[in-house]
Amino acid sequence: MTLRNKLDEDDADCFPWSTRKSWTFRLIKYIAVLAIFMAGIVVGLSLTGRFSKPFNTPAEIFFPRTIYTANCDRQCLSFKSFLSPGRLMHSMSDEELLWRASMVPKMVEYPFKRVPKVAFMFMTRGPLPFAQLWERFFKGHKGLYSIYVHTLPDYMLNVSGSSAFYGRQIPSKEVSWGSVSLLDAEKRLLANALLDFSNERFVLLSESCIPVFNFPTVYNYLIKSSHSFVESYDENSQTGRGRYNRRMAPTIKLYHWRKGSEWFELSRELAIIIIADYKYYSIFHKYCKPSCYPDEHYIATYLNMFHGSLNANRTVTWVDWSRGGPHPATYGAPNITVDFIQAIRNNGTSCMYNFKSTSICFLFARKFAPNALGPLLNLTSTVMGF
Ligand SMILES: *[C@@H]1O[C@H](CO)[C@@H](O)[C@H](O)[C@H]1NC(C)=O
Ligand SMILES: *[C@@H]1O[C@H](CO)[C@@H](O)[C@H](O)[C@H]1NC(C)=O
Ligand SMILES: *[C@@H]1O[C@H](CO)[C@@H](O)[C@H](O)[C@H]1NC(C)=O
Ligand SMILES: *[C@@H]1O[C@H](CO)[C@@H](O)[C@H](O)[C@H]1NC(C)=O
Ligand SMILES: *[C@@H]1O[C@H](CO)[C@@H](O)[C@H](O)[C@H]1NC(C)=O
Repeated sequence: MTLRNKLDEDDADCFPWSTRKSWTFRLIKYIAVLAIFMAGIVVGLSLTGRFSKPFNTPAEIFFPRTIYTANCDRQCLSFKSFLSPGRLMHSMSDEELLWRASMVPKMVEYPFKRVPKVAFMFMTRGPLPFAQLWERFFKGHKGLYSIYVHTLPDYMLNVSGSSAFYGRQIPSKEVSWGSVSLLDAEKRLLANALLDFSNERFVLLSESCIPVFNFPTVYNYLIKSSHSFVESYDENSQTGRGRYNRRMAPTIKLYHWRKGSEWFELSRELAIIIIADYKYYSIFHKYCKPSCYPDEHYIATYLNMFHGSLNANRTVTWVDWSRGGPHPATYGAPNITVDFIQAIRNNGTSCMYNFKSTSICFLFARKFAPNALGPLLNLTSTVMGF
């Protein structure tokens, strides 16, 4: 090795242009010539029309498609797993999950056939006593729904491999009812469901909820709705405006304050907006403490402030508060009759749906005791249509 060469090597990293100038310049010249030569081939091929057959784009001439269509499901990043993660378990923190779920494609067109799905998000401490009823409801509609289950952190849902609920538990955390951790669990469910780009509508349900219409009716009602269904009302009472904390001002004023049932239904657009919010969420986190319940106020108030026109301001989950007290009525086996379920489906009251009147106000109902399962299964085909 000559001294000249040795110097070249030593200096190369620090002074790439001063000592390597001449040969780098030569390299650039070769690349330029090669590029012009390749461009010539492309133009030549396109002129002779040969390229429409074996190659679709100029890039494929030099980077053949076969390399990229290798089976990527296991070894490398695949488009399929990006669109819809096959497994729901992951190691993301809530912070990482919310960030990832807030991504919105800039392109309007999808590079795949997107069939919109409804995400059914179950929030439960443990078992799902109405799993059998729901399974009957979902049967035959694969591809049009996704299920997500948030439980207590250590609870393992015991369902068979053929169940619609099999493998649908998401990484969960402790929830204490009435605290902001309930809101966190709602956001966790939304964010996990948002990772599937085909999910278009998002329904929150509990273990004591049942469907009162069949799947096609529920699917069409939600997918074709121009509004989300989040109950939102202004109530001048101790349990309404009385829960507002003045320290939320000036960001949230008393006239913004709304109340509504926790059991929401959201479009994809609003679901992303809600999980992406930190500013208003953190005010609720700080100032909405018992006896203020974030799950009854945060989404209703936030939507009222910024996205009221996208909200129907009513819930699609029926519940009976008529007896008063802090908890709604629970219906058990003796209470399940044809007339009762019919009255939930249509009691003569009408609701607004896409600016028109409809007799269908509720798609789901709560609360039901586990022993109501048998009598309900008896009614599905005659009353609920599934
Ligand atoms: C799961 O359910 C099956 C069938 O109902 C039952 O035999 C089994 O003992 C259950 N397993 C656990 C861990 O509870
Ligand atoms: C719901 O309430 C908002 C105000 O927050 C209002 O702008 C909107 O029109 C209402 N939605 C319907 C469907 O009436
Ligand atoms: C259910 O039926 C029982 C027995 O008839 C009755 O005592 C109870 O009040 C009913 N519950 C509701 C919520 O209607
Ligand atoms: C029908 O149900 C709605 C909502 O639960 C209730 O407000 C209304 O009073 C009911 N109407 C009749 C006629 O029962
Ligand atoms: C279901 O209906 C049948 C016939 O009406 C009745 O004999 C049976 O007791 C019902 N089962 C339940 C669990 O309600």
